[in-house]
Amino acid sequence: MKPVNIGVLGLGTVGSGVVNILHRNALEIARRAGREIRVTHAVARNFDRSRLGGIDEINITQDPMDLVTHPEVDIVVELFGGIDLPKQLVLDAIEHGKHVVTANKALIATYGNEIFHAAQKKGVMVAFEAAVAGGIPIIKAVREGLTANRIEWLAGIINGTGNFILTEMREKGRDFEDVLKEAQVLGYAEADPTFDIDGTDAAHKLTILASIAFGIPLQYDKVYKEGINKITREDVFYAEQFGYRIKHLGISKDTEAGIELRVHPTLIPERRLIANVDGVMNAVLVHGDAVGPTLYYGAGAGSEPTGSAVVADIVDVVRVMTTDPENRVPHLAFQPDALSEKPIADMEDIETAYYLRMDAVERPGVLAEVTGIFADSEISIEAIRQQEPAEGATHVPIVFLTHTVKERAMNEAIRKIEALDSIDGTVTRIRVEHLGG
Ligand code: HSE
Repeated sequence: MKPVNIGVLGLGTVGSGVVNILHRNALEIARRAGREIRVTHAVARNFDRSRLGGIDEINITQDPMDLVTHPEVDIVVELFGGIDLPKQLVLDAIEHGKHVVTANKALIATYGNEIFHAAQKKGVMVAFEAAVAGGIPIIKAVREGLTANRIEWLAGIINGTGNFILTEMREKGRDFEDVLKEAQVLGYAEADPTFDIDGTDAAHKLTILASIAFGIPLQYDKVYKEGINKITREDVFYAEQFGYRIKHLGISKDTEAGIELRVHPTLIPERRLIANVDGVMNAVLVHGDAVGPTLYYGAGAGSEPTGSAVVADIVDVVRVMTTDPENRVPHLAFQPDALSEKPIADMEDIETAYYLRMDAVERPGVLAEVTGIFADSEISIEAIRQQEPAEGATHVPIVFLTHTVKERAMNEAIRKIEALDSIDGTVTRIRVEHLGG
């Protein structure tokens, strides 16, 4: 059979991983795909030729339009990152009848609905396994492996850079900026690392996961987002005293109030497997009504782990490129005309437990004032810890764990607590999820 020709847009961290894997495992991959797969074209500005296998057989060009319209290219692999240029190139590739594989979560989360519609009209595939959780085949697992289930909820550590930073800070007491620099050198971080820190990258990935889990259109603009920059060493310490770890999670649940879509630091009981996922590793917990809880774990970023997911998509496309487009697995797991209109839940309607830390004036009656506010809002306290004040200190940190309550009631209680003369500054609030069956 004729070999399949791949055109790669971008030979950076992920692109070089893809080229090297396809070259190194060429025979194994051809045995699986049923045809030879070879990279014939690439667009790249700066790359290290000596580190790329088979590079001499690749036509390198500077013009991406040349690649996406090239008659010899069967599959376009988009690894540029960013949004506007990739969107145009992907739509042009589709228009020219090319299948597309992309690792671009920002693009899929933001313009996936439009891109999939264009691909359906043209009868081509757009595959995006590498967009979520790096090397973990989570898209395939949820879209195909769990297809019998009604998914109830999912929760994941889906940003490798953030998890790497939190782990190094907790285990080695390293400085935030210093660890971030290392993550950049290792190729984990986004071109704009703010996306890793402020939760944007995790929000992109959660948008995609929620769509394929619940059969809803991609709705990135409705994700509630908090980043890891809120987490202090003190909170890590207090959480551990209560038997919890702080992880940055993307959480989506199917509830009566709608589909929850939220990304924020979260306390998780330390006995949970996911609480022990460290470094650049990602993990996604998915709870289906038939299967119960399932956990997927692996490297969430890096050249070959992400390249592994891209190459798997290429093989998938090659296996079915000659089949009837109507009978392929739908892009978002559900048939396009069967997507649900269930709304995204208002953040004030979510229900969860909370960790609260506040600085209180060291005098009698302050605890009673705070617990009185909790009682008025029907917030039940699970645990309290008051640290011994440092010698001569006028303020003392008090930490509470609450039972589950509506976010609206908690917002109201926090407003009242912050208005007390006896409480200094703002209340630190971190949501708590038990992630049990
Ligand atoms: N910057 C991302 C991360 C890369 O750290 O998880 C993988 O999407």
